[in-house]
Amino acid sequence: MTWVTKTLNSTLGRKLIMALTGLFLILFLTGHVSGNLLLFKGDGGQAFNMYAKFMTTNPAVKLLSYLTYISVIGHIIYSISLSLYNKSARPVAYSTSKGSTNSAWSSRNMGVLGTIILIFLVVHLQGFWAKMHWGEMPTVTYDGEVYKDLFLIVNEAFKQGWLVALYVLSMIFLGFHLSHGFASAFQTLGLNHKKYSPAIKAIGAAYSILVPALFASMPLYIHFSSY
Ligand code: HEM
Repeated sequence: MTWVTKTLNSTLGRKLIMALTGLFLILFLTGHVSGNLLLFKGDGGQAFNMYAKFMTTNPAVKLLSYLTYISVIGHIIYSISLSLYNKSARPVAYSTSKGSTNSAWSSRNMGVLGTIILIFLVVHLQGFWAKMHWGEMPTVTYDGEVYKDLFLIVNEAFKQGWLVALYVLSMIFLGFHLSHGFASAFQTLGLNHKKYSPAIKAIGAAYSILVPALFASMPLYIHFSSY
């Protein structure tokens, strides 16, 4: 076994992969929420559809997309492997462990929160991403160029109350997942300095409220403005 595989299989190595993939996904979410704000532009979806075409056809963005898929899969696989490894290393729980007094609820339930987000992601990707890439799509023409009308698909989808509820609930869980994950990733990377840790914690707390709230506002806005 080389030092690389040895490191990757150690607890620290597994945590490192969780931190790096998690931070990459935080960057992805920042870009994704910013681009999706075009849904609010009020131009009938032109800017959003043009943006969606760019995001699915530009070669550099495609490379970033592949990195996103690898990060999602890596984050899931390594979270399972880390929790199995921790269980096998400590088959009997600490008798003195009183979770609520030692750590925040979100930090003790990262696996449950992650599983709920995974279920959300399956529904989400099947509804929009798979349709955009392989499904039957309505089209629209701007300045003589044909675009897939993803704006129409998103608007039709969010007319369904159950889907809006699923998105809003999932964003609450995403917020809790991020609230622990953000600071924890920096800690794993050894970036916890007396001077900077409070700032990282504060940015993490603000991020885990702002980004899920913006995501949740999209289905809510579309649903209630369609009446
Ligand atoms: C209301 C909120 C959201 C809306 C309206 C939305 C919309 C979309 C749309 C239209 C696509 C397909 C276009 C494309 O392939 O680029 C997409 C892809 C995707 N979404 Fe979302 N999204 C939302 C929230 C989220 C959240 C919270 C996550 C993660 C937890 C997420 C993860 C993804 C991923 C991984 C892809 C595939 C990206 C790629 O192929 O590069 N989305 N989203």
